[in-house]
Amino acid sequence: MGAASRAYNTDDFRTLARRRLPRGVFDFIDRGSEDETALAESVAAFRSIKLLPRHLNDVSQRDIGCTLFGRRLAMPVAIGPTGAADILWFGGELALARAATKAGIPFTLSTSSTTPVEQVAETTGGAVWLQTYLWERRELSHAVIARAKAAGVQTLVLTVDTPVIPNREFNARNGFVNPFRVTPRITLDIMAHPRWLFGVMGRYMLNGGIPRYANYPPEMSGAITGKPSRLANAASITWEDVAKLRDLWPGILIVKGILAPDDAATAEKHGVDGVIVSTHGGRNLDSAPAAIQMLPAIRAAVSKQLAVIVDSGIRRGSDVVKAVALGADATLIGKAALYALAGAGEPGVGRLLGLLRDEIDRTLALVGCPSFAAVGPGLVLQQAGTLVGPGRDGTAFREAV
Ligand SMILES: Cc1cc2nc3c(=O)[nH]c(=O)nc-3n(C[C@H](O)[C@H](O)[C@H](O)COP(=O)(O)O)c2cc1C
Repeated sequence: MGAASRAYNTDDFRTLARRRLPRGVFDFIDRGSEDETALAESVAAFRSIKLLPRHLNDVSQRDIGCTLFGRRLAMPVAIGPTGAADILWFGGELALARAATKAGIPFTLSTSSTTPVEQVAETTGGAVWLQTYLWERRELSHAVIARAKAAGVQTLVLTVDTPVIPNREFNARNGFVNPFRVTPRITLDIMAHPRWLFGVMGRYMLNGGIPRYANYPPEMSGAITGKPSRLANAASITWEDVAKLRDLWPGILIVKGILAPDDAATAEKHGVDGVIVSTHGGRNLDSAPAAIQMLPAIRAAVSKQLAVIVDSGIRRGSDVVKAVALGADATLIGKAALYALAGAGEPGVGRLLGLLRDEIDRTLALVGCPSFAAVGPGLVLQQAGTLVGPGRDGTAFREAV
């Protein structure tokens, strides 16, 4: 298993990734927007949540699986959409898809990716989720959606939190901009990371060149280092677009990037099947609250039928337990999977998912829950000594312990 066996948690994979990747590439996956407040708080918010264990419950038989959209998942985790995984590892998107499928969880392919959706659908046995933004020329987005349908994709994720390009100053500082120009600093950075230079870029050069966007319409496709597309995300996106998509897409439709409870309720009124409560991993609005902080109010604003998924800041299995306790049906991981991929390829992602699975299992045992059916807000301390929801007997709502 090589490098992967030296990693015992997400942070270890982050260290491996930092060693392997040129600085500009590592920063691209690791960092947030502006002052990186939302990024820091997304992680800190999970850390600050405390679980109150209940003991003397038989936890000898445990089940960490869940059901989402009528399908059984091995754990309430999916790999979220992250464009450009292929620049971290040769064939990185397929490596993520295979590792997720082996672990019994969904993989989300970003439309900003370099592996054709058809290939990923085949690799995942049709279990891939496809994420898309909406472009100004709606017909181009609708064509991509028709292509996904033809490829057998059943789940579509519409990301709505990026109407303009976020301010990620580190990319500009690192010269990580489109079109990409090789500067002396970048050359030195790349030369200092020969494993990435030869193992990733070198292999692409021997296999047809720099990866190209494979799921954009022909008007937009090009090398990932090429000129920015003039077909930007639609800043004009509205609920009417969601309604139109609901008409066009017969499968499962999820809206990603929701933070306000009333937006979640409006999404449900538009007939979507799920929402993803997200700050885009702290990469967009730097003044956003942590997604996990908004989760209880969002859960309360929608019906039980609407799947509520949360991401941004999940690094440990205990974070997944906290998310479910606060009302999530499932979670997504973004950076954690990318660190594992960049640090150790597919075995790395497999090991990370195994570590998360073990952490979830151990946390459930330690809090006295044999399965997620027993996990609820009564496990979570809001402030020292205050439960955020009913205890197991249903009585302790917001009472001091
Ligand atoms: C490098 C990178 C690229 C991303 N690309 C996309 C994308 O193309 N579409 C999207 O909806 N979200 C994208 N995201 C956001 C993730 O889907 C997810 O919301 C976020 O990473 C979750 O937070 P976490 O990284 O703390 O787990 C990206 C995130 C990263 C780190």
